Amino acid sequence: MDVQQESVVDPAAAGPAAGVQEVTIRVTVNGAVHERPVPVRTSLVDFLREDLGLTGSHVGCEHGVCGACTVLLDAEPVRGCLLFAVQADGHEVTTVEALATGDELHPLQQAFWEHHGLQCGFCTPGILLTAYDLLRERHGVSEAEIREALSGNLCRCTGYQGIVRSIQAADESWER
Ligand code: FES
Ligand code: FES
Repeated sequence: MDVQQESVVDPAAAGPAAGVQEVTIRVTVNGAVHERPVPVRTSLVDFLREDLGLTGSHVGCEHGVCGACTVLLDAEPVRGCLLFAVQADGHEVTTVEALATGDELHPLQQAFWEHHGLQCGFCTPGILLTAYDLLRERHGVSEAEIREALSGNLCRCTGYQGIVRSIQAADESWER
């Protein structure tokens, strides 16, 4: 990874950013290239939400347990709270915002809508991307495989029945 150090702020300088080291990163997010300086300790999910305004990825536990911050990094699911934004330098990130095409929901989203795959929706972005990763190259996944894939995504509302049903429905409806 080629991370270029851009500036080191003088710790003696006044202001809230004093002593914060920044580097410039270049990341492709949902097909758009973004190049900008970020503090080195900014998490990937905070970068997506606060710098890019992509608030679909949620922040729950902030230590890798709940899966609400799941995004795809070079097409692999990762915890956005466990990566620094600088680790995405030179890579491609996909967030839940990339699933729909305009007003047209992705088949997974449509299935969640039709089969009660969500209640409060806090876990949903991470679960959608986990399910996307499971289904994109697979057909006919079993309930056990779905539940195994979901084992890293916590949902406090649904009891998972609707989520599993939704993924099974998307497995049928998604032409891939
Ligand atoms: S916020 Fe990242 S795993 Fe919970
Ligand atoms: S729908 Fe509320 S946490 Fe999953």
